Amino acid sequence: MRKLKVAIIGPGQIAEKVHAAYYATRNDVELVAAVHHNNIDKAREFAKRNGIPRYYTNADEMYEIEKPDIVSVCTPNKLHYGNVMQALKAGCHVLCEKPPALTSEEAKEMLEYSRSKNLILAYNFHNRFADDVGMIKEQVQQGALGEIYAVKVKALRRSGVPGWGSFTNKDLQGGGPLIDLGSHMLDAAFYVMGFPKVKKVTAKMFRKIGNKKSEGTLGKWDPSKYEVEDSFFGFIELEEGGLIQVESSFALNIKETSIMNVEFLGDEAGASLFPAQIYTDRKGELTYLLNRGTADPNRHQKSIKAFVDRCLGKPVMIADAEQGYKIQELIGALYESAEKGDSVLL
Ligand SMILES: NC(=O)c1ccc[n+]([C@@H]2O[C@H](COP(=O)([O-])OP(=O)(O)OC[C@H]3O[C@@H](n4cnc5c(N)ncnc54)[C@H](O)[C@@H]3O)[C@@H](O)[C@H]2O)c1
Repeated sequence: MRKLKVAIIGPGQIAEKVHAAYYATRNDVELVAAVHHNNIDKAREFAKRNGIPRYYTNADEMYEIEKPDIVSVCTPNKLHYGNVMQALKAGCHVLCEKPPALTSEEAKEMLEYSRSKNLILAYNFHNRFADDVGMIKEQVQQGALGEIYAVKVKALRRSGVPGWGSFTNKDLQGGGPLIDLGSHMLDAAFYVMGFPKVKKVTAKMFRKIGNKKSEGTLGKWDPSKYEVEDSFFGFIELEEGGLIQVESSFALNIKETSIMNVEFLGDEAGASLFPAQIYTDRKGELTYLLNRGTADPNRHQKSIKAFVDRCLGKPVMIADAEQGYKIQELIGALYESAEKGDSVLL
């Protein structure tokens, strides 16, 4: 059988640790090229380290010569849209890093174009691929929690401004912890709940620490170039009456180093995702109905596996372009609300 040819655009840390590392484990795919539009050295070094035979600064040339089947887009957020559209126009299936883009208009165009060409466009919202999430989704569908009327989405770091990349640059990333971390946990929450319709969002964001401190658990950053929010708080009202509360931070004076989780509050039981737990109260005593112990550490690999399998025609779940668009639309509305200081209707 012919191997699927893969090109990687944006040769940074996620491209190397996750995309290239996973593709290299499969004998039905073949890494053929790495692209960095304006840094040949980065492309070359990345290709060398990962056993990729060729590297390019000109993506047109790469598409012309390599004719890849699959493209992984791992650039800073602002460049997702252009690179995804170019890959789709070249007839490739695309796995794009999260968030899908900078705006919902871009994400919509990416969705519509991929659909019109019958190409697969998936986003690496890897958390939903954890076994924990699958277990909770199944229990939710079976009614184990009763009516879920409130959800708490937490993507919090006490002092975790990324010390690499462009995560403090508003122009390149579109925002801070909400678009970077919150998008992950919002996807997991919406996936479990079957993407309920949103009615209204109300949010507030702050920049209080990232522009003063310069070092944390994920390295050093330049506080004078810290342009994004460092904490974000929002309420998402659902059309059917439920409420989702979202909290996300790169820097916030909480006790924990990091909290990445979603809690579902139902009238029969509550659940949290990482690790999968379902619990209820019996006469004042906390009682676990399910307790997985430790969270699935292999969600990244499972996300990319699902994308490749889908490209090979298997009917597996992926974080598809339509769901990516919905998350992008929600993030856009949350930022709009925080900027305007008023609620936004969807
Ligand atoms: N799924 C996840 O858990 C996860 C984790 C981290 C990052 N990400 C996402 O992955 C993307 C990259 O993040 P990262 O942590 O790897 O950052 P990074 O800075 O390590 O990697 C980005 C790479 O893109 C390169 N780049 C910049 N301009 C380019 C261009 N014009 N053409 C090609 N390459 C270009 C940069 O030089 C860098 O090598 C972001 O969208 C981020 O949100 C996802």
